[in-house]
Amino acid sequence: MDAPSEAKPVTVRRIHALREKVAGWRQVGESIAIVPTMGALHEGHLELVRRAQADCARVIATIFVNPIQFNQADDLSRYPRDEAGDAAKLAELGVDLLFAPPPQEFYPEGFQTLVSVAGLSACLCGATRPGHMEGVATVVAKLFLQSQADRAYFGEKDYQQLMVVRRMAHDLDIPVKIEAVPTVREADGVALASRNRRLTPAQRAQAPALYRALSTLAARLAAGTTPAQAALAQGRAELAQAGFDPIDYLELRAAGDLRPLDRADRPARLFAAAWLGEIRLIDNLAVGNAL
Ligand code: PAF
Repeated sequence: MDAPSEAKPVTVRRIHALREKVAGWRQVGESIAIVPTMGALHEGHLELVRRAQADCARVIATIFVNPIQFNQADDLSRYPRDEAGDAAKLAELGVDLLFAPPPQEFYPEGFQTLVSVAGLSACLCGATRPGHMEGVATVVAKLFLQSQADRAYFGEKDYQQLMVVRRMAHDLDIPVKIEAVPTVREADGVALASRNRRLTPAQRAQAPALYRALSTLAARLAAGTTPAQAALAQGRAELAQAGFDPIDYLELRAAGDLRPLDRADRPARLFAAAWLGEIRLIDNLAVGNAL
C-alpha cells in the first residue's frame, strides 16, 4: 500500500523545520524553488508559483510581512494579511511547503545584520523609502540561506527589487538562480499588487491612469520625437491631472544597471511611484517593446 500523501502545502514556522524538509528533498536529488512573498496572494504571485513548478520538483512559498522593509509603521500595520486564504490558493496549485515564520523567528532579540546593495539601492524606491531595499536584501538573503533553493522567482513589477536581489545573490556567492517573471496586469492595465486591496472604488477607477501614462510615455520615447526630460514632465503632469499626489518619481533608467538616461538609446525602462490617497502604487515598463 502507498504511504498516505501529506496534505499540501505543509506549513512550517521554524527555520529548523524548513531545513529538515529541504534536507529530505536534497537527499533524493530533487530540485528546489522558492517564491518569497509577503502574502495577500494574487494572480501575480500564483504566476511565480506556476513558473517555479514548471522548473523545479519542489516549491517553497514563503509568507512573511518583513518589518524591516517598511519605513512607515502604519504601512506595516495595515499591510493586508490573509494566511488562511493564501494557504488555500497554494493548496489549489499543489505547492509543497509554506514557510510562514513569526517575526521573532526571523529577527530574534539581538539581531544586528543588514545586507546593503549600495549602488542599485540608491535610487527610485531606495531613495524614496529609506531602508526599504536593505530590508528586502536582508530578508531575501536569509531566505536563500535557510532554504538553499536552486531557483528563486520574482516579479518584474518590483524591477528594482529584482535587480537588487540578483546583485546580492551574485555578490554573496549564493548559488541560486534568480528568475524574473513579467508583471501580471488587470484588463485595464493596473499591475497586480497586494496593496491594491486597500484602494477605494474611486481610487481603483483612477489607478489605470498610471499604466496609461507609462504606455504613452514609452511610445513617445521609443519614437524619439520628444526629448526625454520634456516627455517625463508631460507624463508627470498627466499623472497629477489623473489625481496622483504626490508623485514620488517618474524616471527613465537603463534596464541593465538603473543608470538615469536622457534618451532611450539602450535597453531602457520607465519607473513610476505615485500615491492615490494613502496607497502608493509602483509600476515600470520597458521602452521599445511596451505597446
Ligand atoms: O516583493 C515582496 O513581496 C517582498 O519585498 C519580498 C521579496 C517577499 C521580501 O520581503
